[in-house]
Amino acid sequence: MREVVDRVWAMLSAGANAGATRSPFTMLQAATVGLDGGPKVRTIVLRGVSPEAGALTFHTDVRSEKVMELRKDPRISLLGCDLDAGIQIRLEGIARMVDSLDERMALWKTSRPHSLIVYRAQLVPGTPIASPEEAHRAPGGMSDSMAGFENFCLVTVDVQTIDYLDLSPNGHARAKLSRQDGAWHGGWVAP
Ligand SMILES: Cc1cc2nc3c(=O)[nH]c(=O)nc-3n(C[C@H](O)[C@H](O)[C@H](O)COP(=O)(O)O)c2cc1C
Repeated sequence: MREVVDRVWAMLSAGANAGATRSPFTMLQAATVGLDGGPKVRTIVLRGVSPEAGALTFHTDVRSEKVMELRKDPRISLLGCDLDAGIQIRLEGIARMVDSLDERMALWKTSRPHSLIVYRAQLVPGTPIASPEEAHRAPGGMSDSMAGFENFCLVTVDVQTIDYLDLSPNGHARAKLSRQDGAWHGGWVAP
């Protein structure tokens, strides 16, 4: 199974380091347990991957609903799909909001200004507005490079299970793996 584990993390690493060329695993769908108990899913950008630690990271707004949901129930499920290759990766894990100021600051400083705009918005995500333009009003303190930093949230997911599915013409293989004591265990299952 080492080969499958390595393949999965290589695809996720490519997603996190996409740069100019987009990787199919740059955008993942992240599912949480909603405050109403129902499933909630949304797209996130995969920002970092640590195959050794079995962990990945994404950025979000601390004011968003998903953060409230994860504070209540940290279980998270992530899904990525490479349509051309016929590969699906499903992950389950435990999310934690990183408190370290240094870690958050380092990421903030190396982020492209464009990707920080959302954190500078004065309105809490999901606030009802009369028209989309209302959310675009120039937020105060834009000239301050730290404006919005207090809303910038780094989420780390400790991955506990991997469900790998290869439905390519030569594939038709599925593997289920789980992480115990820092090592991956598992095997092939019927697709
Ligand atoms: C292409 C794309 C990428 C996105 N990336 C992120 C992201 O990295 N982090 C994030 O919090 N929201 C991201 N979003 C927005 C979320 O999908 C979602 O709409 C938003 O975070 C609010 O979700 P929530 O109310 O469940 O917290 C992205 C949306 C799109 C369309």
